[in-house]
Parts: sequence; C-alpha cells; structure tokens
Amino acid sequence: MKEYLQKYSGKKILITGGAGCIGSNLTKALIKAEADKIYVLDDLSAAEKWNVPLDPSVVFIKGSVLDDEVLRRVFSYRPDYVFHLAAHFANQNSVDNPETDLEVNGKGIIKVLQYSHLTGVNRFVFASSGCSVYGSQAPLPLKEDFISLHLDTPYQITKLLGELYCNFYYNYYKLPVVAARYFNVYGPGEIPGAYRNVIPNFMYWAMHKQPLPITGTGEETRDFTFVEDIVAGTLLCGVVPEAVGDAFNLASETETRIIDIANKVNELTGNPSGITYRQRRDWDLITRRRASIEKAGKVLGYKPKVKVMDGIKTVYEWIQTNRDKIEACARF
Ligand SMILES: NC(=O)c1ccc[n+]([C@@H]2O[C@H](COP(=O)([O-])OP(=O)(O)OC[C@H]3O[C@@H](n4cnc5c(N)ncnc54)[C@H](O)[C@@H]3O)[C@@H](O)[C@H]2O)c1
Repeated sequence: MKEYLQKYSGKKILITGGAGCIGSNLTKALIKAEADKIYVLDDLSAAEKWNVPLDPSVVFIKGSVLDDEVLRRVFSYRPDYVFHLAAHFANQNSVDNPETDLEVNGKGIIKVLQYSHLTGVNRFVFASSGCSVYGSQAPLPLKEDFISLHLDTPYQITKLLGELYCNFYYNYYKLPVVAARYFNVYGPGEIPGAYRNVIPNFMYWAMHKQPLPITGTGEETRDFTFVEDIVAGTLLCGVVPEAVGDAFNLASETETRIIDIANKVNELTGNPSGITYRQRRDWDLITRRRASIEKAGKVLGYKPKVKVMDGIKTVYEWIQTNRDKIEACARF
C-alpha cells in the first residue's frame, strides 16, 4: 500500500456528498486503505444509493449538510478526516437554481466547517473547482494564485466562496484545511443527467444512437481528469503536512478538444448518428482550459496517470455494466 494511504488505516473518515461520482470513488480508495469507518453523508439529491460501495467499514447516512441534527450525529462519531464534497452541482444548475446553490454550497460548507472545528478534526479537505475560481480570463496554464472576481455563474461564485470560508476557519480557528481544485472530473460513478458533465452524457446519448450535441464549435478544450487521479490527489491533500492552509490544482495538465471526445465516444459505442452543433451556452465563456499541476506535484507529490482516451473506455465499461440501473435513474 502507498505510504499516504497507510495514514488512513484505522481512521474514521467523513465524506459529505459521498454517494456522488467522486465521493463513491474516494470511498472505494479508503476501503482499500483499510480505514476503520467511512461515514458517507449524502441527501441523494443528485446521486443514487446503489452508487455507495458496500463494505462493512462504510456507514451510509441519508441526510443534508444543512441539517444540524444529522451533522450532530455524524460528528458524534468523531471523524479524524473530513472530505467535504457535497455540493449543488454545477454551472447550469446554479443558473437555474441560484438560491439552492447558495444554500448548499455556502451555508452547507459553513456548517461542516463549524462542526469540524468544534470536534477538532485532523484535516478538512474541500472539493473546490479549478473550473470555477479562475474565471474565463486567466492566462494558461492556470496557476493557483490567479483568482478571478469576474465569475460567470452562481456555482463558480459559491465554489470560490467555499474557499474563502475555508481560509477564515484556517486563519481564525487554525482548522487544518486544504482546498483541492478539481478540473473536469470524469469516471465511473457519474450517472448521466441534465446537470452532469459532458463525457457521461455523450456516452448516454451515443448508446441511444442520438447525435452528440456540441454547444460551440468543438474546438473548445478542457483539462479532463480521471476520477482515480483526483482521488489520489484528494487523499494526498488530507495527509501532507505542508498542504495545510493552501489550495492545489488537481488536473491532468492536458488540453483535449470537445470534438475529439465526441468522436471517440461515437467510435467506442458504434454510434452512427454523428455530431450536432448548438449555440454555446450564454454563461460558458471559457474556450480553453489547462491547469498547471506544478505546485501539486512539488508539495503533494501528485502525479496523474490516466490519459483521457483510456479513461473514457473505463467510463464506457462502467455504463455498460450498470446500464439497467442507469436507464432507470438518469436525470434528464
Ligand atoms: N465533477 C467535476 O468535474 C468537479 C469539478 C470541480 C469540482 N467538483 C466538486 O467536487 C465535488 C464532488 O463532485 P461530483 O462530480 O462527485 O458531484 P456529485 O453531484 O456527483 O456529488 C455531489 C454529491 O453531493 C450530494 N449533495 C447535494 N446536496 C447535498 C446536501 N445538501 N447534503 C448532502 N449531500 C448533498 C449529491 O447528492 C451528490 O451525491 C463537488 O463539491 C463538486 O463541486 C467537481
């Protein structure tokens, strides 16, 4: 077992939003790391119970990070580490529902930070978003110290807000916090849906022999990062001493064009319907995205391994294996 994983052996971990894509993969990694107990707190507003890995060490608690009674209960178990992943996800959802976005991503994080502070957790890791905090004007590659105040959606604003609250709890209460800035995460565990990411949705439409809708020209790029690399970086954020009080990009450091993703998905699934072009969404002003992972490499020892064209195959296998369940609960 890798050295950083050993640090979780025998420990109690709380993952908020643990039934989601990243949370379920984080749970799997912590099972392998032989954590004593993994408390998965999720209100299932955007996830399915069957996505939570089954293991004697996993305790699933259905509830909201906004509910003090539930929080008192999970924190009475005295988690050593808290991974705060629960969120109202993502851009379009926040444009459609800005108040819920603020409630969950703003008030939700204050509550989880406060309980973490009161119970003296070893580390609080926040799932921030590199796709949010840099805005659409930052120079490439995106580096940690270039934060934008000109953000394009309520979600981008509340992910930055989450970091600001983390900084407050770190500076004022000395709570050991780390912000992990994720970039375009994809992987098994993400159920397609109206507010979900492009890769599972392309896969879903391709499997239904529909043309893949590209909002824009297809030349737009994103820094797609496989969920196992994100999980490895997140776990490093939880234990590397020098990470405390800081923020790190977790990305693949590679730009991939949306058109290349669409073509690959159509090839993998044998979809004859091709591609259709739609107008770019009004809030979507980012044409290129590539992160620098120099800092995460130096401080955390973070090194992503999976190339997007390989990772996509794993997503396809997962969707095929779980097709019936996914068909029953895809939220379009
Ligand atoms: N997926 C990405 O590309 C990406 C990129 C940057 C940051 N992030 C962040 O990483 C985290 C995890 O993302 P994900 O892709 O797994 O998303 P996800 O939607 O699959 O996971 C979020 C989970 O939070 C749960 N949730 C929502 N409101 C809740 C509440 N009030 N109480 C408890 N649980 C609640 C949802 O049911 C869901 O299971 C989020 O904070 C997200 O903002 C994700």
